[in-house]
Amino acid sequence: MVTAIFPAAGSSRRMGGDINKIFLELGSESILLRTLKTFSKSPRINFLIVVVNENEVDAVQKLLDSADDLKPYKIVVGGSERQYSIANGLKFLPDDAEIVLVHDAARPLISLKVIEDVIDAAKKFGGAIAAVPEKNTIKFIDAENFVTYTPPRSKLVQVQTPQGFQRELLLKAYEQAAQDNFLGTDDSSLVERIGDRIKIIQSDYRNIKITTPEDLQMAESLIGFKPQVTENLPPTTYSLPPKIGMGYDVHRLVANRKLILGNVEIPYSLGLDGHSDADVLIHAIIDALLGAAALGDIGQHFPDSDAKYKGVDSGELLQKVHEMIKIHGYTIGNIDATIVAQKPKLAPYILKMRVRLAEILQIDSNSISVKATTTEGLGFTGEGLGISAYATVLLER
Ligand code: CTP
Ligand code: MG
Repeated sequence: MVTAIFPAAGSSRRMGGDINKIFLELGSESILLRTLKTFSKSPRINFLIVVVNENEVDAVQKLLDSADDLKPYKIVVGGSERQYSIANGLKFLPDDAEIVLVHDAARPLISLKVIEDVIDAAKKFGGAIAAVPEKNTIKFIDAENFVTYTPPRSKLVQVQTPQGFQRELLLKAYEQAAQDNFLGTDDSSLVERIGDRIKIIQSDYRNIKITTPEDLQMAESLIGFKPQVTENLPPTTYSLPPKIGMGYDVHRLVANRKLILGNVEIPYSLGLDGHSDADVLIHAIIDALLGAAALGDIGQHFPDSDAKYKGVDSGELLQKVHEMIKIHGYTIGNIDATIVAQKPKLAPYILKMRVRLAEILQIDSNSISVKATTTEGLGFTGEGLGISAYATVLLER
């Protein structure tokens, strides 16, 4: 039986942006999910260990919950280096794992054939790694950038993952590396230093590691995905088209409640009634954000029936929703909102609301507009029975 470990706990520094690249979409699916689904197709793999950042455990859990074609898995927390992440993953190996595969979550284009070949060879030789012949000439250089040696290209391969090993061999190699404080850039190098031979398995050039934005573009063309490129932009600055969302909410005005709009408390004889703090403006914005990302609505994520949300600060809910949409690869372009209230006069508080919302969402307050209107005494808002709010957002990706 084979267990596959997926290091996914990096910081995606070279990708830039503020989201771990494993959550980015490739075609219609996140990089992580695509990777895990391919491994789940192998009949010999019966368990997946996904190593993630501590603050991304919930997001990964949600993502994996959404897929129904995955082998049984465990999510574990990683470390500051890839090697430490895998070392943590190894602590959770099930007893029946005879062969262990390690595969970068950031290599979503791996083929089932290469996975199977690596498993076969690991079983036969103890250790086996996917690689392709080197296409470029490689030079050794010194500290002053002078060439010291040109190794013959025909003897060079470019190493990828998966890398597969017999259980005891890999555990021993990781133990020894920890003892010697050795940090390698792949798993095989840890096994090589305890003296075992590693077999090279012919992989394919498509199995790239998504490292920089160009890699993502390359992967998109490799799978035949055509993002809608804006014609007159150079290819490196293309982005997917933005998504628009709208939200609407109403709360009743009653006595003995605070009036909170845009996370700002407004002095008034009445306040909005509701299970939470009844911040109707934030609720409309939340629904607009969720709407743009097609992620449902506020009631679905924070049900009235859940005691946990009683009296909750809607600013906190907004923050949670913002995290959610970021994980799905979106950033907020701008927000425009209108509060409909006959009374009190809101003009003196508008700027404060914009600044507060900008603070919560960590975007420029110029990207958040809040307006207020009366309805000239007409309808339930005009009669002062309640306050409603509309919001529109643009999400970029
Ligand atoms: N990885 C990990 N734990 C770390 C560092 C990396 O699990 N401490 C994972 C990454 O999530 C990735 C794989 O190892 O799936 C290969 O690493 P790399 O491509 O370097 O990803 P990042 O470290 O996230 O990117 P960068 O080096 O640009 O920050
Ligand atoms: Mg890295």
